[in-house]
Amino acid sequence: MRKHTLIVTLTALMMAEVLVSQVINRNNTLVRRYCSEYGVLNDEFFQRNLNSTLSSLRRQLVNNTAYHTVARTIINGESVYGLALCREYLSNLDCLKCFDIAVKGVKVCGNVTGGHVIYDDCDLRYENNNFYSEANVRGNVGVCGNQTSSQPAFRETVNTLLSNLRVATPRTPQFYAASTRRVTGSNLTIYAISQCNINISQSDCAKCLSIRSTTLSDCLPNTNGRAIDAGCFMRYSNTAFFRDNQTTDLTPFLEDGDSSTKRAIIGGITGGSGLLLIVLVFLLCKRSKKSRDRQQVKSTGATELLQGPTAYRYNDLVSATNNFSQDYKIGEGGFGEVYKGKLNDGEVVAIKKATIASRGRKAYFNNELKIISNVHHRHLMRLLGYCNKGPHMFLVLEFMENGSLDKFLYGEKRGSLSWKQRFEIIFGIARGLAYLHEQYHVTIVHRDIKSSNILLDNDFQPKISDFGLVRLLPEDKTHISTKVAGTLYVKID
Ligand SMILES: *[C@@H]1O[C@H](CO)[C@@H](O)[C@H](O)[C@H]1NC(C)=O
Ligand SMILES: *[C@@H]1O[C@H](CO)[C@@H](O)[C@H](O)[C@H]1NC(C)=O
Ligand SMILES: *[C@@H]1O[C@H](CO)[C@@H](O)[C@H](O)[C@H]1NC(C)=O
Ligand SMILES: *[C@@H]1O[C@H](CO)[C@@H](O)[C@H](O)[C@H]1NC(C)=O
Ligand SMILES: *[C@@H]1O[C@H](CO)[C@@H](O)[C@H](O)[C@H]1NC(C)=O
Ligand SMILES: *[C@@H]1O[C@H](CO)[C@@H](O)[C@H](O)[C@H]1NC(C)=O
Ligand SMILES: *[C@@H]1O[C@H](CO)[C@@H](O)[C@H](O)[C@H]1NC(C)=O
Ligand SMILES: *[C@@H]1O[C@H](CO)[C@@H](O)[C@H](O)[C@H]1NC(C)=O
Repeated sequence: MRKHTLIVTLTALMMAEVLVSQVINRNNTLVRRYCSEYGVLNDEFFQRNLNSTLSSLRRQLVNNTAYHTVARTIINGESVYGLALCREYLSNLDCLKCFDIAVKGVKVCGNVTGGHVIYDDCDLRYENNNFYSEANVRGNVGVCGNQTSSQPAFRETVNTLLSNLRVATPRTPQFYAASTRRVTGSNLTIYAISQCNINISQSDCAKCLSIRSTTLSDCLPNTNGRAIDAGCFMRYSNTAFFRDNQTTDLTPFLEDGDSSTKRAIIGGITGGSGLLLIVLVFLLCKRSKKSRDRQQVKSTGATELLQGPTAYRYNDLVSATNNFSQDYKIGEGGFGEVYKGKLNDGEVVAIKKATIASRGRKAYFNNELKIISNVHHRHLMRLLGYCNKGPHMFLVLEFMENGSLDKFLYGEKRGSLSWKQRFEIIFGIARGLAYLHEQYHVTIVHRDIKSSNILLDNDFQPKISDFGLVRLLPEDKTHISTKVAGTLYVKID
């Protein structure tokens, strides 16, 4: 009888073992760390504000079931905006644990204007500007595992799962979804999640996930991977990182009136061909060595905050401008000649050509270009990319339908602007300048505002051009010779 009890006890113990066997190893692996390259104005105020923002975030996380929180502190003019975000499969305790690790992780950045640490289980970011609605600002960041799956159906299963998550997540109330899928013909289960920051718009969430699911697909056939951006996170793995009972029922979010399965299948197919298209475009545009550096890191802890500008192929620019023919020339500025060009994909752009004799300044240029190409504002002209060829540097910019403002003030179209348009132009320029001076995380002083540098789009909305380009001019070409040009980050203490 005693033996029997022992067996019962043992069986019970084993059963218990089986029941709790889905223990998820929490490994707060740092996926990526981004540190701003710019120092703060005042270390002491900054530290105090950062502390206050971080404690406020933690206080909110303690009782917050959404695991999603923002906070802002501003003392003595030095503001710190913060955002903390846990994956929702975590327990409250695990969320706080991850947050505490992330605080240490972000402090590694030092006294700089921004830091962003992304862990498998949580995300922590601070900036000196409001970044809450930012979504797609990172480069192509996929962090892939280093083992590959030999299962033939692995790729397809992951792609379907990611495609469903991509569609469903922006429609969920918390912008979070977790799902699993069995690989056909095996007993392997794929676990995947996707999440957007709650403060971005639904369409930005959809866009972010659509780009990142493609990044993540590039990890295949590796057994796990993550794709990250400022506003979203996706991860898949063949090992469980959440419990089987923590999945989201995706069905209601995939439904579109029609049969949900049909929707999912269509989603899978379009996702697949979209991927193919993107891969094709990518291969076609495969350009300089610089862009081949795809940031598909296998290690962790890389630091950089800004996405680099796109490197264009010289041959593409030649064909876009019919070998820089005079017919395509639309102007000549302080920087050099300007051409109108039509890229292979049909996009019409403006191409500025400049000659830079000194090759030693290349690293410097790349850095400056990185800063300029990350400026996104309605009233500032976008730098789309660049191309280095011998002593020449080409800048690829948005093309503006209505040309420069000086034509409307002094030139052939003189007098054709209405007062309303004039007012909007003035207001737009002021907004653009205010952004460059105060809202972008680097202070950029234009120093050459004039009507020929204001371009008008087809709606007569102004865009300031050539901002920051002064910094790219060779020393002898700089028309203003103040030494302010040496410092991008203006200290005012
Ligand atoms: C967690 O991940 C790190 C880095 O990948 C690794 O060195 C460590 O062994 C892992 N720990 C566990 C418990 O899996
Ligand atoms: C940041 O500033 C604080 C002063 O508040 C200072 O103690 C600390 O050493 C600074 N950290 C770095 C990395 O410079
Ligand atoms: C910020 O908090 C850390 C510990 O969390 C502390 O060592 C540091 O002194 C604090 N700094 C300020 C400026 O309060
Ligand atoms: C958080 O919850 C605990 C108990 O669940 C409660 O005692 C505490 O007051 C709550 N804190 C806040 C800030 O709501
Ligand atoms: C990646 O491979 C290396 C050896 O090739 C191994 O030491 C390391 O643990 C692997 N990392 C992961 C996350 O599997
Ligand atoms: C199922 O998994 C077990 C290990 O958990 C393995 O030994 C077995 O071969 C798997 N079966 C199939 C069909 O893959
Ligand atoms: C961010 O989103 C939360 C939840 O929707 C909202 O309560 C909060 O006010 C938002 N914060 C900002 C700065 O937009
Ligand atoms: C999910 O499963 C775990 C054990 O694996 C259990 O502790 C938990 O209560 C379950 N949650 C729900 C909502 O069923």
